[in-house]
Formats: sequence, C-alpha cells, structure tokens
Amino acid sequence: MKEQLESIQTEALEKIASAAELRELQDIKVAYLGKKGSLTTVLRGMGKLSKEERPVVGEIANQVREAITEALNQKTGKLEQEAMDKQLESEAIDVTLPGRPVNVGGPHLLTSILQEIEDLFIGMGFEVREGPEVETDYFNFEALNLPKNHPARDMQDTFYLTNELLLRTHTSPVQARTMQEYGGNRAVKMICPGKVYRRDTDDATHSHQFTQVEGLYVDKDVRMSDLKGVLDKFAKKMFGEDREIRLRPSFFPFTEPSVEMDISCKVCGGDGCSVCKQSGWIEILGGGMVHPKVLEMAGYDPKVYSGFAFGMGPERIAMLKYGISDIRQFYTNDIRFLKQFHHA
Ligand code: DAH
Repeated sequence: MKEQLESIQTEALEKIASAAELRELQDIKVAYLGKKGSLTTVLRGMGKLSKEERPVVGEIANQVREAITEALNQKTGKLEQEAMDKQLESEAIDVTLPGRPVNVGGPHLLTSILQEIEDLFIGMGFEVREGPEVETDYFNFEALNLPKNHPARDMQDTFYLTNELLLRTHTSPVQARTMQEYGGNRAVKMICPGKVYRRDTDDATHSHQFTQVEGLYVDKDVRMSDLKGVLDKFAKKMFGEDREIRLRPSFFPFTEPSVEMDISCKVCGGDGCSVCKQSGWIEILGGGMVHPKVLEMAGYDPKVYSGFAFGMGPERIAMLKYGISDIRQFYTNDIRFLKQFHHA
C-alpha cells in the first residue's frame, strides 16, 4: 500500500508539473483528492490493515495529500500570476506616446466677415433680409431702372436660365422686393447679405459666384449726408478708427446721384503704394441716392420718400482687411488658408 501511495504521489506531482492551465489543475485535484479520487480510494482500503500498519500508512497518506495539495496550490499560484502578467502586458498603455491631434473646426472667413458686417448694421438699426438666388429679369434689372436692352446690363454678365429667369447678378433686387412688400407708406431700413452670380472667368479678382451685402434706407427726408455718415461709421468700425473715407461720382442706373466709396490706404497712410495703386485710396463699395423711378416702381412716391442704397463685396473687404491676394482662396477650401482665421 505504501508503494501504491508513493506512486500516486509521483504520478500526481508529475501531472501537476506539466499542467499548463488552471482547468487541468482542477481536474487533477478531483482525480486524486476528490471523493472518487485515487488517494481517497486507497485510504478506504485502510480498514483491511493491521492495527500497527494503520498509523504508519495513515501518516504516509497524509504526507501524500499534503504534498499534492501543496503542489496544486503552488502551481495554481504560478499559473494565476502568469495569466495576470499576460493580461497586464496585453492591456498596457504607453502613456509616453504623443496623443493624436484633434482637429477643431471653426467658421469660414467669409461667414465671420458677413457676421461682422451684419452685427455692425444691426447696431445701426438695419434689419437683415433675404431674397431668392434664382431671380426674375424684372427684379434683377427692370425694377432697378435697367429696362431690356439697356446698355448698362452689359456691366453684369448674366447666367440666364430662361428669357425671364436668371441667377441674380447682385443683391439689389432685394431692394425692390422689400419696398414692394412694405407697401409704399413706411420706412425701410434693411441690409441683405447673399450669394450672387456672374458669367466671369475665375481669376485672382473674379469669381463666377461671390457674395454681396446690399443696404437700403428709405424714409421721408433721407439725404446723401445720411449715406456718408453710415458708411463712415462702417468703414471705421471695419478697418480702424484712423481710416478716412471719400465719395467719388460714379454711375449706377438705380441711383442718382451715384457714388463709389474709397477708404484711405492703411499701408502707406495716403502717400501712395502698390496696394492703393499709388493713389492713397482704395475702392470699397458703390452706392447713391435711390433713383426716383426705382422708388416709384416699388410703390413709393418720390416726392414724399427718398432713400440711399449701397452694395459691397465681403470678399473684397476681407481681402483688404487681411491682405489676401486671390479671391479663389474663399472657395477652394485649402485648410491651411482657412485655419488662419479660426480664433478659438
Ligand atoms: N449692385 C451693384 C453691383 O453689383 C452695387 C451697388 C451699387 C448696389 C450702388 C447699390 C448701389 O445698392 O446703390 O455692382
């Protein structure tokens, strides 16, 4: 029996030593120490032994049980430790690795400029209006004193959709639309930002699609000096308090008299440089007093009402403000360009 016990121990210890998984150890424990395990079975036969033999064999049996239990515990500990090490290794995070940069977006420069212009005019009591980009010939031209075949239509090369429908060439039709809607008997004070379209070939200063901001103020007794005051405020807020403005005579069919507004050149301070083409002044926008015919066609009596209007190009304003030399930068979405104007 003694030999039997010793061979059980040897066999069990060998199996434990070669076990590679915790589950195997569990099986070994059942196979040797369990209720039907081989050690238990041998111990059951102890009753057949003599009184003298029993304690001797009993002691050996206890030693065998202890040896197997001890080996099982040790091996269990070892395998658990190995499993833990493996898990730690596979889940390890290298905190010294540099992080992946997070790209934060921001408003497009044109959006910011339009917002700035809107805020400025809202502050002076103007409301913000919108009009359709697909416009009728009537509102885009006729209502603005540009009858069919008028030579001044050539100033704006037009994308026609049909004989009567076109892509608006300017935001000025919103003047006529707003006045008509207001009904001819109350004041209008609005700006209209929006997209416009021209049949131009794209280059550094031309784009077939760009934006404009229209302005219109109609009331009893609106004068040229009101136009000058509003534009002066606008120029100083947008470009700096030290900038001067000047109005030059010009021509637009929908205003009489018509003007173009220049601001003093910041680069040379008025002495003349390449930015202002040696003149000391930079052209910013067109405007004038609303033509009596335009008022009349929209239902306003020009003997009672007068008004001023202006139109500007936000791209040009942004180009002057930030020294951008190519209008296509606004539409080609080069992230390196756009990023420069994201202010966190
Ligand atoms: N609509 C003109 C253009 O696109 C700009 C303009 C000039 C608008 C004079 C006006 C104005 O309202 O009074 O060239």
